Parts: sequence; C-alpha cells; structure tokens
Amino acid sequence: MIEKRKNEHIEICLSKDVNAVRNYWDDMELVHRALPEVDFDDIDLSTELFGVKMNAPIIISGMTGGTPLGRRINENLAIAAEKLGIGMGVGSQRAGLESPEMFDTYSVVKERRIPLLIGNIGAPQLINQKKRRGITDKEIERLFIMIDADILAVHLNYLQEAVQPEGELMAEGVMGAISTLSRRFPVIVKETGAGISRSVAIKLKRAGVMGIDVGGLGGTSFSAVEYYRALEHGDERKANLGKLFWNWGIPTPASVIEASVGLPVIASGGIRNGLDVAKALVLGASAGGIARRILKPATESSDAVVIEIERIIDELKVAMFLLGARNVHSLRNSRFVVHGVLRDWFEQMEV
Ligand SMILES: Cc1cc2nc3c(=O)[nH]c(=O)nc-3n(C[C@H](O)[C@H](O)[C@H](O)COP(=O)(O)O)c2cc1C
Repeated sequence: MIEKRKNEHIEICLSKDVNAVRNYWDDMELVHRALPEVDFDDIDLSTELFGVKMNAPIIISGMTGGTPLGRRINENLAIAAEKLGIGMGVGSQRAGLESPEMFDTYSVVKERRIPLLIGNIGAPQLINQKKRRGITDKEIERLFIMIDADILAVHLNYLQEAVQPEGELMAEGVMGAISTLSRRFPVIVKETGAGISRSVAIKLKRAGVMGIDVGGLGGTSFSAVEYYRALEHGDERKANLGKLFWNWGIPTPASVIEASVGLPVIASGGIRNGLDVAKALVLGASAGGIARRILKPATESSDAVVIEIERIIDELKVAMFLLGARNVHSLRNSRFVVHGVLRDWFEQMEV
C-alpha cells in the first residue's frame, strides 16, 4: 500500500506539473554590488550546520525510499552528496520500519560518507491514529540505525494528509510528542510545501528541536500531487480539495523570516538554482534544500545529479561574487528588494 503510494508520488512528480502557481523567489531581487572587492577564486562556499562541515550550503531534501526505484534514487543521491560534500535527507522511513525487506532502500545511503545525513518520519506517525499506534522509542532508534542518521527530520504534512484519500488526520498531541522526542534524540522539524509560521517556530524552539526546514510554498505542491492521484483513483471529492488547496501555504522566503527564531533554518520549497539559494541565505537561512529539481537526474545516474548540483553551486558562487560576499556568512549583509505578492507577505508577517 505504502509502496504503491510512493511510486505514484514519484511518477506524478516526474510526469506532471505539480508546482505551485507562483515561485516567490521571483518576487525577490538582490542588489548588485559593482565593486565586489573579493577575488572570485577566494570565495568560500563551505559552511557548518548542526556541528558538521559541508562544502556548500546545500541539502538534498528527503524524497524517497521504500520501493526499488526509491533505492536507486537514494543511492544516486548519496553518491552525489558524498562527492560534493553536501547534506542529504531520505524520504519517510515508515516503510523501512513496517517492511524489513524495504530496509535497504534507505540503508543504501550508509555506504557513503555524507557530511550530514537526515532521517525522516511523518509527524502523524508520532501519535496514535485511528488504525495505528504511535511510533515507539525503539522504532525511533531503528530509524537512526537504518541510515546512520546524524539527525531526524519530523515532517509536517497536514495539507497532504487532508487532501489525500488515505490521509491520517489525528493531530492533537503532536507538539508534545515532538517535545518528548527532542529530549532523547537530535530532531529537526520540516514542512513539506506549506511553510512554517513564526508562532509554530517559537513552539518548536521551546519543544527543543535543533533546527527548522521551512518547506515553504512555491515549489512542489503536495496538494497538486494528491489532486492527480485522486483523479487517477476516480475520487472526485479529493480531487476537488487538491485543486482548491494547490497554492495553500506560506511562501518559502516569508517562511524563512518567520521561522528565524534563533535556530538554524533550512530553506526548501521552490529552490531551482544557485540564485534562489543565495536569496535564501541573504534572508538568514543556513542552507537551501532542493528536492524535485534533482528527482529526474536521480532516476538516471549519480553523475547526472552531480552535474545538476555543480551547476547550482556555480550559480551560487557567481551570485556571491556579484554581491561581494567572501563567504556564506557575509552574504547576510546583502541588500535586497521585494515586490509582487511576496511584498504583501513581508508587510503583513507575524514578526
Ligand atoms: C517525490 C517527492 C517525495 C517527497 N517525500 C518526502 C518525504 O517523504 N518526507 C519529507 O519530509 N518531504 C518529502 N518531500 C518534500 C521535499 O523534501 C521538499 O520539502 C519539497 O518537495 C519542496 O521542495 P521542492 O520545491 O524543491 O521540490 C518529497 C518531495 C518530492 C518531490
């Protein structure tokens, strides 16, 4: 059942346009610095996140596992992450817990020396649902062991749960479960396309999480993905919901600012190139997270993934040069201009 759903998600993400209608990084411009006063070759992209050093502030966002195709994708992503010295997440490891034969579709990443390896489990799994009990501490330990994870991302995906035919909609008590979990394990919390607001970020900080991946609106829309799934399953009611909530959420750039509450922030959601990564860093993110842009190359080969991400790194370096930023940290002093819908968000934010 999970395997079928996972394959459908990947297949739909590869074949259909599931982007949010607007990519909000286009509503932000960086102000050119005509005198960079730094040599291009001296620009340093390395960064430290959660105590580990990465060669560039880029993370391959968690996407998959739990199917043979997922295994191949994870392997190609892991080889690329090792080669480039960047971070990587796997997709929800629930299938690896429930079906031991799926274990290696995740654990394949263990064979690589990846600076930052991020495990993944859905927030709904932390508590009892109508047909299933919540995950135990022993099982959480198994998630870490499965991939030798440095940190576990608990993903929030209530938009997707609400619009998908088999969604799990019990949500009360999740914050308490995250708090309990964070006392025992290194945890970050990650949205999956609808963003994180200031008030939620503050609660997460109090709960003791180590970082926040905003997973904002502007890139892959899981409401869109579920719209296509519902159509294929002939579920008109859910298809209607998926269509209506296609563009629901907090734009990623606005969410980066809202979620900046003194913890490292990862900006994922609609990052397409190195310029988008630069914009995220200017707003205060510690790294940019990229998912769907590298999904197709990941189905092909590790080299295809390396080529895509090297291009993104090149673009980021040129942006840093044109902003006169010698390193990732100094990017934060760069000026920017906001327009369009994003400007309205910036003016009415919860900060
Ligand atoms: C095929 C696919 C599967 C995904 N599965 C997961 C998942 O299991 N867990 C998770 O936290 N996020 C998952 N995501 C969300 C991504 O990690 C990311 O937050 C989101 O897609 C926004 O990034 P993008 O616009 O670059 O695609 C998935 C994304 C894609 C495209």
